[in-house]
Amino acid sequence: MRSISNEKNLDNKKILLRLDLNVPLEEGKITDTTRIDKILPTLNFLTKQKAKIIILSHVGRPKGKIIKELSLKPICEDLKKKLKVNIKLITENINKIRNKNFFDRFDEEILILENIRYYSEEEKNDNKFAKHLANLGDLYVNDAFSCSHRAHASVYKIPKFMPSFSGLQLDLEVDALTKITSKITRPITCIIGGSKISTKINIIKNLITKFDNIIIVGGMANNFIEYFGNSIGKSLKEENCDLIIKEIISLSKKEKCKIIFPEDVIVSKNLYGSSQKKELDEILSDEMILDIGPKTIEKIINIIDKSKTILWNGPAGYFENPSFANGSIKIAKKIIENNRKNKVFSVAGGGDTVSLLNSLNAVSNFNFVSTAGGAFLEYLEGKELPGITALN
Ligand code: 3PG
Repeated sequence: MRSISNEKNLDNKKILLRLDLNVPLEEGKITDTTRIDKILPTLNFLTKQKAKIIILSHVGRPKGKIIKELSLKPICEDLKKKLKVNIKLITENINKIRNKNFFDRFDEEILILENIRYYSEEEKNDNKFAKHLANLGDLYVNDAFSCSHRAHASVYKIPKFMPSFSGLQLDLEVDALTKITSKITRPITCIIGGSKISTKINIIKNLITKFDNIIIVGGMANNFIEYFGNSIGKSLKEENCDLIIKEIISLSKKEKCKIIFPEDVIVSKNLYGSSQKKELDEILSDEMILDIGPKTIEKIINIIDKSKTILWNGPAGYFENPSFANGSIKIAKKIIENNRKNKVFSVAGGGDTVSLLNSLNAVSNFNFVSTAGGAFLEYLEGKELPGITALN
């Protein structure tokens, strides 16, 4: 992969920059700007080099139709405020733009083309559309790791037609993920949560072969607790998972990877009720597990202390209610402490984990926090990402 960060002569070059500006919008207002903020260094780097930037991005899933609510307009306004350079949203139909000379009429340093998913050709990975897009610039840069699992025209097909590079953020993301999947410093531990084991089974299976410890927390740990003969009351659980658990346990023995699940828990009668500590054999039929207990926290903290690399995906409990956030907060604090002492390389990802770290103001205390959803998970499953393959 060639990185744009090593390119020198970008003066006046028209750069087609694929970004993931797919931020959550509510009534035209951005509710979380993390993805925009993360991309600012790339835009600053390219504007300093005096390149002319033409941004391609999607928002939401308009499925080939123009949906006003999914316009990039609010994102353009946010970028204007943050970057203090001139930016223009181009609303012309892309198919009617004849060639790259079209952009010469604009003095703005950054031009943003309207939602690329307004065009059905994008998701169809249409050859003609990609070739047309390639005609609109001199170079292509993919700085949208979080879209790189999509074999779409602006991610996968454009690199066939023009010199293509990885962007600064994509480089950082791939570097961090390589450190937890191939260039590993051991011992390496994964803390994995979420409500459904079936959605994480392929990640667990892939990581078991490389990791020393896999700590299962969150809703999917309830299946493990029940599998080992405990009643879990009315806790969240996924049906028909015994075979998956059996498979995980047998593979972990073969690969000498320790699987750790909660030894004690915090329960309540409902999501908003008061919390109570319980041993695994004490859970009543009207109680639900909502966090890990103190013994489990201590065990996890000891493992973190002995680990040189940590991957965290999924909170330990129902952290939205502070009564059940203790497990997740203790895990975060221990990783942060060891990170500060340079004892660990830490990567976190996944929507809930990122919002937890945001609420603790702790994103910068991890070596890398991934804002990629599906792409992050597919990478951890060991799948090839089309956007990365295309750059290679
Ligand atoms: C994401 O939010 O994960 C990316 O923007 C990709 O969006 P998609 O799942 O709609 O392809």
